[in-house]
Amino acid sequence: MARDAPARMTRATAAARSLCGVALLVAALAAGSAAGSDDDPRRIAPYAATDDAVTEAMLDLARVAASDHVVDLGSGDGRIVLAAARRGASGVGVEIDARLVAIAQARAAHERLAERARFVQQDLFEADLSQATVVTLYLFPAAMARVADKLAASLAPGTRVVSHDFPLPGWPALRVAVVDAPGKRDAIGTQTATLYLYAAPSRGPAARAPR
Ligand SMILES: C[S@@+](CC[C@H](N)C(=O)[O-])C[C@H]1O[C@@H](n2cnc3c(N)ncnc32)[C@H](O)[C@@H]1O
Repeated sequence: MARDAPARMTRATAAARSLCGVALLVAALAAGSAAGSDDDPRRIAPYAATDDAVTEAMLDLARVAASDHVVDLGSGDGRIVLAAARRGASGVGVEIDARLVAIAQARAAHERLAERARFVQQDLFEADLSQATVVTLYLFPAAMARVADKLAASLAPGTRVVSHDFPLPGWPALRVAVVDAPGKRDAIGTQTATLYLYAAPSRGPAARAPR
């Protein structure tokens, strides 16, 4: 009897922890919906997920490896940072919507990647990008000039940047790749994605790429 007790305790503890995890996620989502940010004036793009195949193509284009630190600006459900973490890289997703942050954190915990894949609720224009070796973007064209200024001011020279569908104005692309996006659902039914690869320029207005 006594020898069985620890096993029963372990099972009970695991079940309690699992219930606790679900409760925490529900609480996080509830809190997130209270802080829901569909009408947040800082929001520069709506949520749309990058297709899984395109996510891998973005990481391939930037040659993401275990030594990299990947920052996804506007990280949605966390899929790009999680895919980078599965390659052994570390990463941070910066996301304005608390509900999406909670979902990304729950996915990271579920895959036991939370140590390498972190998610923060923050305006991307306030994010510290000093540790990034790779930055990924899937934002809106109207915001890209402002994003380009943020990146030019914040990134170490040579940091790789991959943007899905929308180029950085004034930045010369090192490569442009058109890839199949079988799961893509946009308004006009496009089933491809265009990916732009850049290297961050030297800092300072004089050294910036012309706009
Ligand atoms: C098109 S989705 C891309 C999601 C994810 N990167 C992907 O590719 O699957 C753009 C994301 O940016 C987030 N976003 C918009 N404005 C933001 C801001 N100012 N700061 C942080 N995130 C923002 C949106 O909430 C949305 O989740």
